[in-house]
Amino acid sequence: MSAIDEVRERTDIVELVSAYFPLQKAGRNFKALCPFHKEKTPSFIVFPDSQRWHCFGACAAGGDIFTFVMKMENLEFGEALRFLARRAGISLAPRREEEVEEEKRKHLLLRINAAAAQYFHHLLRESPEGGLVREYLAGREIEPTSIEAFQLGYALDEWEALKRYLAERGYEETDIFAAGLTVERVREDLERKGGGYYDRFRGRLIFPIRDIRGEVIGFGARSLDDSQPKYLNSPETPLFSKGRVLYGIDLAKRAIREKDQVIIVEGYTDVITAHQRGFRNVVASMGTALTENQVRELKRLTKRFVLALDADKAGDAATRRGLEVATEIFRDSVVPVPLGRNLIGYETRLDADIRIAILPEGRDPDDVLREGAGLWAELVEGALPVVDYYFSLISSRLDLSSAKGKSAAAKELLPIIEELGDEVEKSHYLQKLARLIKVDEKRLLLETEPKRFVEPQEKRGGLISGFPGFLLGVEKRLLLLFLEEPRRMKRVDEELEEFGSEPLAPQDFEDIENREIFSALRGRLSERILAGQEGGMEEPWDLERFRADLDAMLQERFAHLLDLRSRMSVLAERGGDWEADLCALRLREDRLQREMETLHFLERDAEEEKDRETLMQLARVTSERKDEVGRVKKARYEKSLMRRSRGKRPWEGSWLVEA
Ligand code: UTP
Ligand code: MN
Repeated sequence: MSAIDEVRERTDIVELVSAYFPLQKAGRNFKALCPFHKEKTPSFIVFPDSQRWHCFGACAAGGDIFTFVMKMENLEFGEALRFLARRAGISLAPRREEEVEEEKRKHLLLRINAAAAQYFHHLLRESPEGGLVREYLAGREIEPTSIEAFQLGYALDEWEALKRYLAERGYEETDIFAAGLTVERVREDLERKGGGYYDRFRGRLIFPIRDIRGEVIGFGARSLDDSQPKYLNSPETPLFSKGRVLYGIDLAKRAIREKDQVIIVEGYTDVITAHQRGFRNVVASMGTALTENQVRELKRLTKRFVLALDADKAGDAATRRGLEVATEIFRDSVVPVPLGRNLIGYETRLDADIRIAILPEGRDPDDVLREGAGLWAELVEGALPVVDYYFSLISSRLDLSSAKGKSAAAKELLPIIEELGDEVEKSHYLQKLARLIKVDEKRLLLETEPKRFVEPQEKRGGLISGFPGFLLGVEKRLLLLFLEEPRRMKRVDEELEEFGSEPLAPQDFEDIENREIFSALRGRLSERILAGQEGGMEEPWDLERFRADLDAMLQERFAHLLDLRSRMSVLAERGGDWEADLCALRLREDRLQREMETLHFLERDAEEEKDRETLMQLARVTSERKDEVGRVKKARYEKSLMRRSRGKRPWEGSWLVEA
């Protein structure tokens, strides 16, 4: 049993929640005023059977013991898991051999990096060759205190200086190479010269890149003449990955928390100048658009982001993608919205404040800051929310007095406005657009397409080419397949078991209502089988009876499912069982991936706290998950291959809803 399961098994949700506030009995369940939003009538429900909770009111939040503690105590999953583990008196098991090895290896590479950083730093401060670099830095107004704080360095213009230094300290050539500090010689050179490796960084100013704990994970190296590239960075190593780096995060994390705001710039020197001028909540993304990993790391410190962008980069596609990544990751609060015809849809709402500060043409933060801290503060202060930023960007590019320009502006901005979850915000920006292009707002409303009904879990569905319909999300597809033939549940469980995965469980469903319906179905199925085993006839499957027994809270979703069922076309008659297997494997795979992701965060916390015991247990659980995900993935792949080899189109046998 994994740590997560163990904690789950030993924690009762009713008892857990009651420790925070009193619960009132409501049928089989319990209710209370929702702790996560203001309300007068209780809509916070605890389901003891499924060990889950849900707020059916304004916040529409829900989850299990972990999500409850995360929200209540404002913790990351990992922290919540530890919190609950401690509470339940569960301690952690030792980790496996390979992981111990991997851990050791990383430690070795960290030691090599640390030694190299010290060596470079020493050269900058003491060596005669370093003198010119010190002058260069002085010319750029980088002060000695910054040189210390960022441990800047200098790499001699020699082929094997660092390599020799590290070798003298007992490090193996292959390990120095693995740390990314040397480059392998090609064959001919190898015969001519002695060793197989030479220094990667030569004659350059060195910026050690550190992780949030301050460990050197890689290097950036600036050329001091015109040699290309301007910056040479460490290659991908077990420690370093360009898309994950946030330069300056170790020195910035406190200020980010304190100011509850992070400012993201592009360059190493921008960070150093900012810190030097007292703006310590600044980190750099190394000149690339924001990546998911970077946003996730920062999100733990603050929800308020300011991106300082070069004027020339502000409009480009990479920037826009970065912003999309950022907003997607923050889209975590789900709210119900009426869709008409008694249907409720869910929209995800942005839980963050992401702003853009545009720098004056041709200048980067370093230039601006050196011109004066006041100008910089003003720029940050005046940063625009993302949508306003698009407005100003697009209107600066188009001639809004011409009919053509107006129509182009509407075409670009309307989709962005439509993406907004919040109706109030949406109407605010529609008005703004109407004013901007001097067109009647009602006409704009007509232009906006009726919103397609997409529930969060249907993200994985989507439009299918060649068929004018909508592929239902995996969770609902599976529920419908089960509702049609509950015996498929058993089939699916056997399938999962065959690949060493446990039977389908409520946690495989991300959506709380789907999850509750699944639990109810599962309960109903075991009752039926029990009746059959005890000599009675196994009752026939009675959908209406199932519906009548279903919790009142779930009736709406159930009606929605039945409605989908009636509008649905199944393109292949015999595909149902097959499809159920595929869906279940998919749900399991996704769940395992989710768990691995949270485990990863947990590991990082434990690392930060140097909690070896926790680390060991986590590594073991993670590797178990990794193996399992591999098996499930393979199973799903093979299954879908088999279908394809029978000559079916990808959507055949799938469940489709008319558009
Ligand atoms: P810039 O070219 O804006 O450099 O690249 P900079 O930081 O302002 O440097 P100075 O002021 O000229 O000394 C921004 C960032 O993009 C990454 C680096 O992280 C750099 O700081 N970059 C740039 C590279 O990784 N490689 C390159 O060749 C150039
Ligand atoms: Mn610069």
